[in-house]
Amino acid sequence: MITLGIETSCDESGVAVYSTKQGLLSHQLFSQIKLHAEYGGVVPELASRDHIRRVLPLIKQTLKEADLTLADIDGIAYTAGPGLIGALMTGASIARSLAWGLNIPAVGVHHMEGHLLAPLLEPNPPQFPFVALLVSGGHTMLVDVPRLGEYHLLGESVDDAAGEAFDKTAKLLGLDYPGGPLLAKLALQGRSGLYRFPRPMTDRPGCDFSFSGLKTSTLTAWQNSTQTEQDKADIARAFEEAVVDTLTIKCRRAIEQTGRKQLVVAGGVGANQRLRAQLATLPAQVFFPRLEFCTDNGAMIALAGALRLAAGAMEPPIIQVRPRWPLMELSAA
Ligand code: KG4
Ligand code: ZN
Repeated sequence: MITLGIETSCDESGVAVYSTKQGLLSHQLFSQIKLHAEYGGVVPELASRDHIRRVLPLIKQTLKEADLTLADIDGIAYTAGPGLIGALMTGASIARSLAWGLNIPAVGVHHMEGHLLAPLLEPNPPQFPFVALLVSGGHTMLVDVPRLGEYHLLGESVDDAAGEAFDKTAKLLGLDYPGGPLLAKLALQGRSGLYRFPRPMTDRPGCDFSFSGLKTSTLTAWQNSTQTEQDKADIARAFEEAVVDTLTIKCRRAIEQTGRKQLVVAGGVGANQRLRAQLATLPAQVFFPRLEFCTDNGAMIALAGALRLAAGAMEPPIIQVRPRWPLMELSAA
């Protein structure tokens, strides 16, 4: 079965073709970073308009790269939420209309399920059951995954997501948008031990997170420093260490609590090299997507949709999206 996947939940248009027999056949991504950079964050209306411009040419390109035509597609998967409503509507409308015209099934995919399954695109994939750490710009969650489609929340952020904390802290330090990867790059030049920020909520039991206080600690440290580039790098390093330590401590707890032997890490912050290195020291086998599939992409949506369609998922031909959609509401297809 060949599935076309379409991702348009935020500021990247992603398209991919996934075969249940041969795996990922091709994928294309258009990032809107330049479009939103001058505003310092994603402008939802601009995002929707750009998805409209990009998605059809991306579909053409993706099919061409895989040497396929629309007639070869057996099903279409699109991100139905969570995300920006206009952006989601764009992908949903194109996907549903194409599926209607081709008389093939379409399935709305949960964006975070897509992230969570992204490591299954790799040559040495995890096997169910596992624990998953989802760390993106909008979510920070630890989830127990006994099987495909069944998600039990172990803990989540009570305020900012880890990626959001990276982005906001980067902004406070005067870095460009998107701040997360730039802050991580700057931290490489930072020296360890000159600043130390709290590891929030690690003194309490459980797997919940809180990252909103860290940006204040960072800002205060910056304002009290001599504000040289080296200070900035040292503070960035201390911030990154605090986030990475906190995530690692909670992952260790989640592994101990569930007895699972595998940890899957997904979402944009999963691209962070310090996090990848530190999680690898945990007493579990750790799985990451390749770097380009940590952040938003069409491949993870094509894969998640293909697995659901292969499991018999049937949905009415209605264009419907859910800007807010708890992962825990999903069930197996
Ligand atoms: O999963 P994603 O592409 O989009 C959402 O679904 O939110 O994640 C984007 C987030 C942003 O907050 C970005 O700053 C963060 O992931 N991010 C990073 C790195 N690369 C992306 N954060 C820390 N270190 C990185 N290397
Ligand atoms: Zn995402």
